[in-house]
Amino acid sequence: MAKLKEVFVCQNCGAGAPKWQGQCPDCGEWNTLAAESVPVPARHAARTAPRAARADVSTSLAAEAIVEQARLATGSAELDRVLGGGLVPGSVTLIGGDPGIGKSTLMLQAAAALNLSGPVLYATGEESVQQVALRARRLGLAEATARLMAETGVEEIVGAAGNLQARVLIVDSIQTMYSERIDSAPGAVGQLRECTAELVRFAKSSGTAVLLVGHVTKEGQIAGPRVLEHMVDTVLYFESDTGSRFRVLRSVKNRFGAANEIGVFAMAEQGLREVTNPSAIFLSRHAAPVSGSVITVMREGTRALLIEVQVLADASLGSNPRRVAVGIDGNRLTMLLAVAHRHAGLLLGGQDVFANVVGGVRLAETAGDLAIVLAARSSLNDVPLPNSLVAFGELGLAGEIRPVPFGEERLREAAKHGFKLALVPEANVPKRSPEGMTVRGVSRLSQALDAFQ
Ligand code: TYD
Ligand code: MG
Repeated sequence: MAKLKEVFVCQNCGAGAPKWQGQCPDCGEWNTLAAESVPVPARHAARTAPRAARADVSTSLAAEAIVEQARLATGSAELDRVLGGGLVPGSVTLIGGDPGIGKSTLMLQAAAALNLSGPVLYATGEESVQQVALRARRLGLAEATARLMAETGVEEIVGAAGNLQARVLIVDSIQTMYSERIDSAPGAVGQLRECTAELVRFAKSSGTAVLLVGHVTKEGQIAGPRVLEHMVDTVLYFESDTGSRFRVLRSVKNRFGAANEIGVFAMAEQGLREVTNPSAIFLSRHAAPVSGSVITVMREGTRALLIEVQVLADASLGSNPRRVAVGIDGNRLTMLLAVAHRHAGLLLGGQDVFANVVGGVRLAETAGDLAIVLAARSSLNDVPLPNSLVAFGELGLAGEIRPVPFGEERLREAAKHGFKLALVPEANVPKRSPEGMTVRGVSRLSQALDAFQ
């Protein structure tokens, strides 16, 4: 066993310090340093490392024959899409999310599908084998299900996966795992790091694809800090609006595909179902047009999504009108209202303004600017906009409407859902409008607002 030395490790960011301190020197959090024992690196390892590095220089990028490895299908088109087209052999993927959101369910369903193409080992440190088997039966996966193992020792898991020559290893969850090389408790930063390192080494040397389930903290990060995110190839987050049965799986880091890709699922009796047409769930179709609501097209990863932006302007009772933004950046909302006032004469000074994106989606794109201002004006004047309208475009401080990327794709998505009229930046007007749709280009905010009185 390697020699151990005691260091103090921040449980928030994973930074090490030789002595105890009240505040972490790295992330600035208070009272997060805890004593942990870590193995002392062997001397000779340090000395031989540079030589190994030098040996690597001889392979040039061009000379290296690049073999595109076949990706493994997870049985779910949504999960495959988020992974960038399936699971890459030898890769390590971390899946984070709140308790009860469906991480284990997703893994179990994927395990059953992956098991068709090669042995899959599902190691659980959270539930008993019976519990997992029962759930598999309830999901109708009993016959197809992978090998199960209730174990928290990472060395035993790696050994078993090696013996089984597993194509895929699922570890649920990384916070319950324990490596005997370190004597701190499971879930401590040192343990997390060591167990993850062990599993990464195993994945890279054996070509087994490893999926790690991780819990998130109250702040919404994977517990046991960012260090884990640096060590793995892909990080996915499973999110949901409280109380909603819809789940969004989002890639925040992906060495083998696009980041910010999303997949949408619904939790049903029979486990997670894919939602192949997510635009439909983020729209609340009103029977008659209502004021303060405008549909816009946002892009998430490689996918265009229709979402509804709502704004409510109401006479303020206080001397300081409120600006409340849900799903939109608060500063951006304030800025847009200022531009609308200065360049289009929108009088929102004495008004409380509440802005919301329907369905718990976050609109992080500037493409939603035009829709937000249109919705604000619509609410202020209590004049609804046509039901068949979509609008997108970025708003500049000079009152100009700027083009946004992927205009044609956004228009196509809107046309697919039956929208007849699009208000877009001049430069985003395509040569040929999608069928059944009129596309109107605008270059100034005043022009856009004049289009609808
Ligand atoms: P689970 O996968 O255990 O969540 P996690 O591993 O992220 O903690 O999901 C548990 C929740 O999902 C639980 O509240 C019950 C619900 N659920 C269903 O609604 N239908 C199902 O078919 C299954 C398996 C779970
Ligand atoms: Mg679970």
